[in-house]
Amino acid sequence: MDSVQVRPMQENDLPSAERASAVTFFEAERATRRVSDPEVEPRPAVTSKQWIDRMRFFLNADPGGCWVAMEADAGTESAVGFAISQNRGRLWFLATYGVLPGHQGRGIGKRLMDAALAHADGRPGIFSSSVHPGATRRYRLAGFSLHPQMRMVGTVDRSTLPAVDGLREGRSDDFEWMDRLDRDLRVAGHGPDHGYMLNTLRLVVSADRARPGYVYIDDRGQASLLAAAHPETAQRLLWEALASSQGRTLVNCITTPNEWAVDVGLAARLDIGQEGYIAVRGMPVPAPYLASGYFL
Ligand SMILES: CC(C)(COP(=O)(O)OP(=O)(O)OC[C@H]1O[C@@H](n2cnc3c(N)ncnc32)[C@H](O)[C@@H]1OP(=O)(O)O)[C@@H](O)C(=O)NCCC(=O)NCCS
Repeated sequence: MDSVQVRPMQENDLPSAERASAVTFFEAERATRRVSDPEVEPRPAVTSKQWIDRMRFFLNADPGGCWVAMEADAGTESAVGFAISQNRGRLWFLATYGVLPGHQGRGIGKRLMDAALAHADGRPGIFSSSVHPGATRRYRLAGFSLHPQMRMVGTVDRSTLPAVDGLREGRSDDFEWMDRLDRDLRVAGHGPDHGYMLNTLRLVVSADRARPGYVYIDDRGQASLLAAAHPETAQRLLWEALASSQGRTLVNCITTPNEWAVDVGLAARLDIGQEGYIAVRGMPVPAPYLASGYFL
């Protein structure tokens, strides 16, 4: 009998699933690391805690999309795989997905993905995909289009920073129009995800409600999610993030419909690289938009 059971995730699976995630992505990054990339480091304790907090949030918001593959050994169960997905209105997204290296290629990933996609129930879907050949194979076979992503890396040349106006700090009473903007760009609002992000990130918004836009900026000054109705607003928001960056920075998840971001990055003297795919099904690639890896 197969000793690996795919079943809905429960809160007490989180520490074991986190360990599986840390090992899986450490090995995957090591295998795909380019010589110019920094050495891959094991996940620090603070990042493990953030992973568990975020997944607990997903588990509470939409438990039906959260699946684990558990292996029983001498009476104890441990996670060997996980697929954390969520429905928000008419949109399904995949926050994270992995199978321990020693267990890959045996169909566990397919079982997890089938469970997560059954929860999607035919909704349009989106996620950020790695280049792992098992992952991209799985996604295309599930009907997703893979759109290559660029990333801009380097240290901002501060002499290039323009004076940016028309922006202000965002608050929770901005969420209503932000959700409307989300719906125009990516089928559904982020809903409860906005509250989670506002607790952990800085929110900057366009002051002009006729030209809406927002960006969440992390504590290193990296834009972790950006949405706007017009490319010029998106560019102002990205400049604001770049102005607050410290040391080497990264602008991630740039697809070709979002060349406005490439133009800002080049003006700031960042370098263009290529990294993974945005995978979409039943919807266009969002623009002007830079997706968040976990919240899409
Ligand atoms: C993506 C992942 C979850 C798939 O899990 P898995 O258990 O290996 O998946 P499966 O065995 O069900 O299927 C993977 C498919 O790709 C193939 N495959 C698996 N590993 C492969 C590899 N290294 N090279 C080429 N094909 C591969 C399998 O043969 C299978 O195809 P098939 O069903 O048509 O035969 C897993 O490989 C993984 O964790 N990768 C590293 C982390 C990662 O990239 N996660 C995705 C983030 S978006």
